[in-house]
Amino acid sequence: MAVLVTGGAGYIGTHTLVELSAAGYESVVLDNLSNSCETALERVMEITGDNYKFYKGDIADREIYKRIFEENDIDACIHFAGLKSVAESVSFPLHYFQNNIIGSLILVEELFKRNVKKLIFSSSATVYGEPAFVPITEDCPKGEIPSPYGKTKSMIEEMLMDIAKADREFSCALLRYFNPIGAHESGRIGEDPNDIPNNLMPYITQVAVGRLPRLRVFGDDYDTRDGSGVRDYIHVTDLADGHVKALQNMKKGVSVYNLGTGNGTSVLEMVKAFQEANGVDVPYYITDRRPGDVGECYCSAAKAEKELGWKATRDINKMCEDAWNWQKNNPNGYR
Ligand code: NAD
Ligand code: UD1
Repeated sequence: MAVLVTGGAGYIGTHTLVELSAAGYESVVLDNLSNSCETALERVMEITGDNYKFYKGDIADREIYKRIFEENDIDACIHFAGLKSVAESVSFPLHYFQNNIIGSLILVEELFKRNVKKLIFSSSATVYGEPAFVPITEDCPKGEIPSPYGKTKSMIEEMLMDIAKADREFSCALLRYFNPIGAHESGRIGEDPNDIPNNLMPYITQVAVGRLPRLRVFGDDYDTRDGSGVRDYIHVTDLADGHVKALQNMKKGVSVYNLGTGNGTSVLEMVKAFQEANGVDVPYYITDRRPGDVGECYCSAAKAEKELGWKATRDINKMCEDAWNWQKNNPNGYR
């Protein structure tokens, strides 16, 4: 029995392959490499010593599933494949709806054709919009979602919920990630953004390594401890482990889980933590708020702990160390 991992060559996918191997699962990867490269998969194989069957193709390509299912005994699917840039989704909404929503729809149809009815979907804290309360629990109402990217996540969630209502055999876990950062502790795999990073940690590491001059801190006038934005950062290996626990505890119907640490860290606290953990300087300046940003976003991950037996164990210091270990050993990512 194998797990089909769509988007398995990406940042979270590669780290999840490592944890799946450690837990004894066989994985088959489907990825079109639109935001990743084969080197990442080679590095995963180097870490785990496992061989993964890799299908280079699109989740919307119905033909590719014929080969995948003929050649493998697939039992469940972890669905990471998707485009994830908020800014790009504002400029190219059609492309995002096509790739993420239509792609997911076709994937689920093809799985159902073969009676594969266990699915784990990568959702995001972005579905809560400006959260009604913090710490955010899974029953927090969804808010106004500021980007087409976020809307694709929410719409796919809704689609999967309706499918589960109609088919009682469907087991589906919607994992709402908070802010994944860090890298595998080997330093061989990590986050490798194509252009100038949008997210905080890759921006910090690129400043530290000298690829970018200074960090811009977006706003110091939020209603938070020090005025800068607060987020729930989670080590990508803890997040990856959350997928393994979700897979081990699949149940009929749709289950929603927040995957975060439950702790909020501000931008300025993160800069300080990074400098202290690694003994490197991160010059920064304060600038205006970034449109669409919320002041504070952190979760209660109590439900995942209770139902999945999962809890994040790596602290901010470890996240900073591992993010830097990856960046300094791979100053240009996988290139
Ligand atoms: P990533 O871009 O590194 O990985 C996504 C992978 O999917 C890439 O390898 C890409 O080539 C592939 N892909 C994209 N569209 C595809 C398609 N149509 N067919 C086949 N492959 C396709 O991103 P990531 O950070 O690893 O994120 C994985 C998932 O988690 C995404 O769905 C993302 O939206 C979601 N997510 C990420 C974050 C985050 O902060 N990284 C937060 C919340 C949710
Ligand atoms: C962003 C996305 C969100 C997505 C998430 C994970 C936006 C508006 N939101 O969330 O949809 O699910 O990434 O991919 O893009 N910051 C700086 N300087 C920087 C970068 C960030 O000060 O150069 C600040 C931000 O204002 C925020 C914090 O750092 O307070 C974290 O930002 P980021 O890493 O982009 O994540 P989110 O904004 O939480």
